[in-house]
Amino acid sequence: MPATPRIAVVFYSSTGNLAAMAEAIGKGAESHGAEVRLRIVPELAPPAAIAANPKWQAFVDAARYETATTDDLDWATGFALGSPTRFGLPAGQLKEFLDTTGGLWAQGKLADKVGTAFTSASTGHGGLESTILAMNNVLYHWGSLVLPLGYGERHLMKESGNPYGGSFVSRSGAEPDAVALEACRLQGVRLARFAGFVADGLAGA
Ligand SMILES: Cc1cc2nc3c(=O)[nH]c(=O)nc-3n(C[C@H](O)[C@H](O)[C@H](O)COP(=O)(O)O)c2cc1C
Repeated sequence: MPATPRIAVVFYSSTGNLAAMAEAIGKGAESHGAEVRLRIVPELAPPAAIAANPKWQAFVDAARYETATTDDLDWATGFALGSPTRFGLPAGQLKEFLDTTGGLWAQGKLADKVGTAFTSASTGHGGLESTILAMNNVLYHWGSLVLPLGYGERHLMKESGNPYGGSFVSRSGAEPDAVALEACRLQGVRLARFAGFVADGLAGA
């Protein structure tokens, strides 16, 4: 009997866009029968910086998500890493969390799992792909099977159009729209599907 895919959606968000995208990925994975952990990495920005942006402060105050731990990555058979684009790179908060995974990595506990990445930026050429590729670099080091979103579904080909991973262009602070959320949902389905194939294949090997 196929194993239930275990999916950890590990993300950083300051004003909620990545959180909405993470939820869509989680829903997609659940619809494919996965168990899902939706986890935010710790906020590291100084309180004064957060307070200067009411949307950021409101998101922090709402504290809607459990905090990511390395146990979530150990538990998972598939990961989705998400971060807003920050000057063409993932946010330092996500990197700081990823830098705590050395122990698991050294034990080989992150290898042979499926990983994928998603992001949002405020402009279409503002670094969506470079941010996803930077997150994927970590997946290579872990020995993950890097899963692109691709163009395999009509929605991805005709509407959302970023084969690297779920992406949203947040012009003037806009929140993720239905097109971006559907791409993320499809990414979650795809992640659960391939995490299941790989876990089952390894179990039978
Ligand atoms: C410090 C900082 C750097 C950013 N750098 C970029 C960037 O390089 N390119 C871009 O298009 N948007 C950039 N943005 C915009 C965010 O990536 C965008 O607003 C994102 O949707 C926020 O996601 P969140 O609501 O999950 O925090 C930056 C925002 C901040 C605060």
